[in-house]
Order: sequence, then structure tokens, then C-alpha cells
Amino acid sequence: MPNATTTYATTDATTYNDKVVRQFTAATVIWGVVGMAVGLLIAAQLAWPWLNFDQPWLTYSRLRPLHTNAVIFAFGGCGLFATAYYIVQRTCQVRLFGDRLAAFTFWGWQAVIVLVAITFPLGIQQNKEYAEPEWFIDILIAAVWIVFGVVFFGTLAKRRVKHIYVANWFYAAFIIAVALLHIVNNLAIPVSLTKSYIVYSGAVDAMVQWWYGHNAVGFFLTAGFLGMMYYFVPKQADRPVYSYRLSVVHFWALIAIYMWAGPHHLHYTALPDWVQSLGMVFSLILLAPSWGGMLNGILTLSGAWHKLRTDPVLKFMIVALSFYGMSTFEGPMMSIKTVNSLSHYTDWTIGHVHAGALGWVGFITIGSLYCLIPRLRGRRDMHSMRAVETHFWLATIGIVLYIAAMWMAGVMQGLMWRATNPDGTLTYTFVESLRETYPFYIVRVAGGALYLGGMLLMAWNTWKTWQVEREPEPVLIPTAVAA
Ligand code: HEM
Ligand code: HEM
Repeated sequence: MPNATTTYATTDATTYNDKVVRQFTAATVIWGVVGMAVGLLIAAQLAWPWLNFDQPWLTYSRLRPLHTNAVIFAFGGCGLFATAYYIVQRTCQVRLFGDRLAAFTFWGWQAVIVLVAITFPLGIQQNKEYAEPEWFIDILIAAVWIVFGVVFFGTLAKRRVKHIYVANWFYAAFIIAVALLHIVNNLAIPVSLTKSYIVYSGAVDAMVQWWYGHNAVGFFLTAGFLGMMYYFVPKQADRPVYSYRLSVVHFWALIAIYMWAGPHHLHYTALPDWVQSLGMVFSLILLAPSWGGMLNGILTLSGAWHKLRTDPVLKFMIVALSFYGMSTFEGPMMSIKTVNSLSHYTDWTIGHVHAGALGWVGFITIGSLYCLIPRLRGRRDMHSMRAVETHFWLATIGIVLYIAAMWMAGVMQGLMWRATNPDGTLTYTFVESLRETYPFYIVRVAGGALYLGGMLLMAWNTWKTWQVEREPEPVLIPTAVAA
């Protein structure tokens, strides 16, 4: 196993395939700006509905899935491709397997994003949350994903280092699980180019959908980003992972438990009661491995805490881990049926989602890219570290405004909806609860605008850092292997 004392020989015969890493990195920043701009627009539409300008393609119902798909699969997805390809090459000390296959994943994934951006505003979607693309896009997604697997596992197979670094385990689980989830959840019978019917029906359809939906959170929004964390946090802190053993234990616990927690999305529905309770119990257990990962990341900073004062990139990473800890505490609480009877259908859920999405997924991606981008140009730092610091504060204040507004709005809505008069009638009408929610929606717009402002600053900073020419980086081979 390579460690801090392993010596390396260099060879110029082969270099890493960083072209595809650079392409995916640039795409992450661009799609981040686009996806969050759509998020800001729909947030504004909820406060000022006339912002749909009476255009069918600008209606909330069409743009909301565009936002979720753009931020999860375009922003998050491109970030995961970029970092998976970068990390697997560095930790295996070999060039990526199959240059052409890797290029196919880049152009194929961009084609998926463009097709989604065209079809969704036209109203061409299937009714499955986070799986809205129609059947012909689903087939392209499956093809790209399988090739992604071939490139990633092909690289692992030809590695020059015996040990497989833990970040790769997380990426491997993410790739396998997402292929499985995507294919099973999207089994459908097409009736025309733009319309298909899912093969499941009724409660079974709901069950499969939320098995998919929850594991999309577990494997797309969590496992892959933990892989990112396990490489870039030690790198940026210049410290070894706090406990390698803990990383392995929480890996297996996380992937074993996530699969069973999906029914917490279907409390008080037609799903059998015992299935709902099972989902609740597994969600509560999920707290342990989640916090194992969070603590392992945070404690990696042991002995390097002082760096937080001066390094804004590290600040992004530590705040990301704090939000990961917070949302994986909140999630199990919300899965308790009595708590869920208050939170479900309210903006509390939206607050939880964005604590995870903006705080964990957004911050760990942004922090990792700030670590990665200069290295891709042969530099140590971004063009402007002051801009990185400003980005950090804009985004942090933005998240606080966003999620605090949603928590308050959510608890208020839940309490108003369940309040009854002595004669059993409802105390408040739905419209009254909506009116009370407006100020919170406006605060969310302000929070979203700050977060988006930070992303725009990142785009500018990336562009300036990009303009520096770089020398190709030689492959490093452990001397024991080279000999
Ligand atoms: C500028 C930043 C952002 C803004 C202003 C924003 C705004 C919104 C709004 C207004 C909604 C609809 C809420 C509703 O239906 O009541 C939403 C939903 C959602 N957003 Fe964002 N968003 C942002 C960033 C992100 C990011 C970075 C991610 C993921 C990485 C994300 C993931 C989601 C998800 C998963 C939902 C659906 C939640 C659910 O169905 O419960 N958002 N967002
Ligand atoms: C231990 C970990 C977690 C558990 C047990 C958990 C549990 C829950 C629960 C109970 C809900 C509400 C379901 C409902 O009432 O409809 C929910 C919604 C959601 N959570 Fe989590 N959560 C966890 C972590 C996370 C993280 C880290 C993220 C994001 C990165 C996240 C993203 C979401 C999304 C997107 C939804 C909304 C789904 C929808 O209705 O569209 N969760 N989660």
C-alpha cells in the first residue's frame, strides 16, 4: 500500500488523460451556473408567479425538474466524472483506460444534458421525480453510464499500485448502484418517440420509484461525493485520512443500509405499514455510518486546524462536512413517522434537501474543484484566492438564508395545516398558510441569489486560472513497481 514514505520514479512515456478531466471540470462550473440560475428563477416564481410570463415553456411545473436535473446530474454529475477520472489515475498511477471511451462519456453526457434542456420546457417528461427524461434519453444515459463503468474499472484493473485507495471504493459503489437504479426504475414501454408507460403500477410503482429516489440521494448525492472528500480533504489539508479503518467500515455499512431506507418517502400511503416502519428503522440506523464518514473527514484536520484561518478552500470542505453531518441527522429525524406527519408536504423537506444539496454536495464540489483546477494548470492556487474567500462567504450566507427560511416556513405550514377548532373544523385555510409563507419565499430568493453570485465569481476565477499554460504532468510510478 503506498504511504507517505513510498518513493516514486517518473516516466515521460505516458501521461495522464487530463483532457477529459478538464472538459468535465469546465462543464461542472458552467452547468452549476445554469442549474442554479433556473433554481433562482423558480424560487422567484413561487414569490411572484407572474414571472412565468404566461409562456407554457416557462411554467414552474416544467422548469422545476429542469432545475433538479441540471443541478444533480449536470453540475453534480460532471463534477463526479471529473474527479473520478482524476482520482482513479492518480491513485492507480496509470493513464485512464480507453481515451475514446472516456471522450464518449463526456460528449454523451453533454448530449443527455442538452436533450433534457430541450425536452423538459416542451413538456416532454415522464412522471418520476429525478428520473423525468423520456425513454430515448434514458437509453443514452444507460449507454454512457456503462461506458463510464468500463473506463473506471478498466483503469482499476490495469493499476500499478496493488492497493485500491478508499475514494475509488466509493466511486465504484456509486457507478454500480446508479446503473442498477437507473435501469430498474426506468423500465418502460414506449408508445411514441415522446411518450412511454412505466411497467410498474400502483403502490409497486411508488415503491420502486422511492427505492430509486432515496438511493439516488445515497449513491449519487452521497457515495460519489464521499469519494471526492476522501481524496481532496487529505490533499488540501496535507494530512493523512484520520482513520483508514473507519473509512472502510463506514463504506460497507453505508452501502448495506441505504438500500432499505427508501420507504420513508412514502409514510402514510398505500404502502404496507410494516414496509414504512422498516424504512424508518433503517433510516435511523443510517445515522451511524453517515456520521462515521463525517467525523473521519473532519478529524482528518487534526493538527491542521490553524489552516482553516487562512485557507478558504479548506473552509468550503469543512463546512461541507458539517452540512453533511447536519442533514444526515435531520434526515433520520424526519423519517420518524410522527415527525414526518408534520414535515411531509411542507417546505421543511425543501430546507432539508438544500442543506444537503447546497451545503454538502455544492460545497464539497466547489472546494474540490478549487483544489483541482489550479493543479490542472500546473499551479497551486486559483487566480484569485480573495475571490475564493468572497465566494465562501456569499455562499455560506446564501445557504443560511435559504434553509432557515424553509425550516421556519415548513414548521409553520405543518402546524397551520393540522390546527383545528373545538368543533373539529380546520383553523386555517390552505390559502392563509400560503399567504404567511410569502415573506419566507422572498428570503429564499435573496439566499439563492447570493449562492448564484458566488458561482458566477467561481466561473470568472476559473476562466482566469485556465488561461495559464501548463506543462504535462509525468506519470509517477512507485519505485518498487518500476523496478
Ligand atoms: C441558487 C441555488 C438554488 C436555488 C435558488 C434553488 C431553488 C429551488 C427551488 C425553488 C426548488 C423548488 C422547491 C419547491 O418545489 O417548493 C428547488 C428544488 C430542488 N432543488 Fe434547488 N435550488 C438551488 C440549488 C440546488 C442545488 C445545488 C441542488 C443539488 C445539488 C438542488 C437540488 C434540488 C432538489 C433535489 C429539489 C427538489 C426537492 C424536493 O422535491 O423535495 N438545488 N430548488
Ligand atoms: C441519513 C441520511 C438521510 C436520511 C435518513 C434522510 C431522510 C429523508 C426524509 C425522511 C425525507 C422526507 C421524505 C418525505 O417526507 O417526503 C428526505 C427527503 C429528501 N432528502 Fe434526505 N435524508 C438523508 C440525507 C440526505 C442528504 C445528505 C441529501 C442530499 C444530499 C438528501 C436529500 C433529500 C432529498 C432530495 C429529499 C426530497 C425527496 C423528494 O421528496 O423529492 N437527504 N430525506
